[in-house]
Amino acid sequence: MTGIKITETVFRDAHQSLIATRMKTEDMLPIAQKMDKVGFYALEVWGGATFDACLRFLNEDPWERLRALRKAFKNTKLQMLLRGQNLLGYKNYPDDVVEEFIKKSIENGIDIIRIFDALNDTRNISKSIEATKKYGGHAQAAISYTTSSVHNIEYYVNLAIEMEKMGADSICIKDMSGILLPYVAEKLVRELKKNIRVPLEIHSHFTSGIANQTYMKAIEAGVDIIDTAMSPLGMGTSQPATEPMIASLEGSEFYPDIDMNLLLEITDYFKNLREKYEKEGLLNNKVLTVDVRTLKYQIPGGMLSNLVSQLQQQGALDKFEEVLEEVPRVREDLGFPPLVTPMSQMVGTQAVLNVISGERYKMIPKEVKNYVKGLYGRPAVPIKEDIRKTIIGDEEVFTGRPADLLEPQLEKYRNEIKEYIEQDEDVLTYALFPQVAIEFFKFRQSKKYRIDNQLLDNENMVYPV
Ligand code: CO
Repeated sequence: MTGIKITETVFRDAHQSLIATRMKTEDMLPIAQKMDKVGFYALEVWGGATFDACLRFLNEDPWERLRALRKAFKNTKLQMLLRGQNLLGYKNYPDDVVEEFIKKSIENGIDIIRIFDALNDTRNISKSIEATKKYGGHAQAAISYTTSSVHNIEYYVNLAIEMEKMGADSICIKDMSGILLPYVAEKLVRELKKNIRVPLEIHSHFTSGIANQTYMKAIEAGVDIIDTAMSPLGMGTSQPATEPMIASLEGSEFYPDIDMNLLLEITDYFKNLREKYEKEGLLNNKVLTVDVRTLKYQIPGGMLSNLVSQLQQQGALDKFEEVLEEVPRVREDLGFPPLVTPMSQMVGTQAVLNVISGERYKMIPKEVKNYVKGLYGRPAVPIKEDIRKTIIGDEEVFTGRPADLLEPQLEKYRNEIKEYIEQDEDVLTYALFPQVAIEFFKFRQSKKYRIDNQLLDNENMVYPV
């Protein structure tokens, strides 16, 4: 049977979008057996903000989570999200760190690595694609979707062709803001399918309320895989909901090979989990309602909630609307970067600073300066002369591949944390989030904690949810 393939995101993007990435491994494992049988093409379970959140907020080792999930999912492919040369952090890492991180991700259980760059600068994803293939993984290259005068269908088709030439095993249209319109998607998918041979996936967010229709048009135009999230943690700033999306395809050639009865049992599990998160105050109404302003401001779900908390900390939540107006202006100043990590944080923080300091570019974060200096790569539109001068004065702009400036660092990292190392992966944890990692290593030394994998071995146990 053919039909559309489903990548379920409830263990990564859904909770990253709706509950600030706070889902614990112990909330995932009890439902794993059923999810493994239901017929998903893949499960997105790792990467993105989950790595940082595990260490920072949940006192969990992200590598141990991955191993536990791998053990639990015997049939379903596991997928992670990787920001190219940034890995899961917020800066560029040298090639030796990138290669080792990818090697270990695959060794610990990842099948598919979705690789993107915030600027769609392919020099920033080339090493990751190469390493993924070298260690036997599926390298999916993702297009960061945005709109501007240069971000048209031709631009995306050329980008996808280049990605395929670089060795991408599949291509994903990554619409992190939920701004890809249905009829644009139809045209985009049709043109991409004409020009590339590898499978095409679509990833959108429900933020502005249009993603269901966008998926339908993309499916009709020939997209191979769609990303959805189980309904209790779907919609809002998360993905379109899995169950209604599948139901909508009944009676068509696109209907996927999914066990609907089992799927609805899984829904019940996540319903209970959602109620628990609601009681804990993790679900904020701001991320649940359809926000049509997204269509105007192009602000992705995660960024909206970040702006709210940044303003809350400054006691300036009343400036929310003003900041939303400032975001597209800053984006234009910076050469129309897609609003995805780390560009969403840079543009968001700069917009907040521009508004609350009462003067544009009076305060400029180091990251924004480095970006303008070319250290993050090449924006699709060159930054205007006067903006560049305002931000970095007469400093030189680097035009090469940013990672070429970096010396190998793995051995240095290894030496710095000798006394804490319990597994090879710890070096990578430390490379990505040094301070948080050290705190976590200390916690791990003082109080041995282990994910209770035995939960999975006892089928008759009743799980508290
Ligand atoms: Co997403």
